Amino acid sequence: MNTESGSEPKFKTKTSPKAEPALNELFLDSLRDIYWAENHLVKVLPKMSQAATSAKLVEALENHLAETKEHVSRLEVIFDMLGQVAVAKKCDAMEGLAKEGEGIVEGTDEGTATRDVGIILASQKVEHYEIATYGGLTQLAKTLGLDEVAEILAQTLAEEKLADELLTEVAENEVNYQAAEEA
Ligand SMILES: [Fe+2]
Repeated sequence: MNTESGSEPKFKTKTSPKAEPALNELFLDSLRDIYWAENHLVKVLPKMSQAATSAKLVEALENHLAETKEHVSRLEVIFDMLGQVAVAKKCDAMEGLAKEGEGIVEGTDEGTATRDVGIILASQKVEHYEIATYGGLTQLAKTLGLDEVAEILAQTLAEEKLADELLTEVAENEVNYQAAEEA
């Protein structure tokens, strides 16, 4: 265990005055990351809805595209509130998840429920990534005393959760059964 004497501890706790700016910087960096991710989704979601067959799935993806554009705007509001320029920092995770979705579309036949199942699986991975991100960022904003920012992030978090639930509904009520028939 580390004691006060000897070498510098590997991880400093927030007792030092420098701790909060570092945490702030981490928070800003995470906002830039999800800002890139949301902007990337605005480009990827139309490809997914175009590739989908189920009307309910197409509707869910189109609704979420509209929400995603709103999520981008909300992040811009947050950057503004923090006196920061909205800068996107490439999110490797979202890039990978999007590629996985595109790979599923390429690997399945057009007009099949099997492809729809794949699109739902890929989309739900995206939603879970976003839920984890917004959940963590909401908590971090509260820790930093940024209550208004936390409220905005919580609003987006709620929408991501709802989008995920809607995709589950489409899968359970319709698409999964149809895909099983195709097998
Ligand atoms: Fe989003």
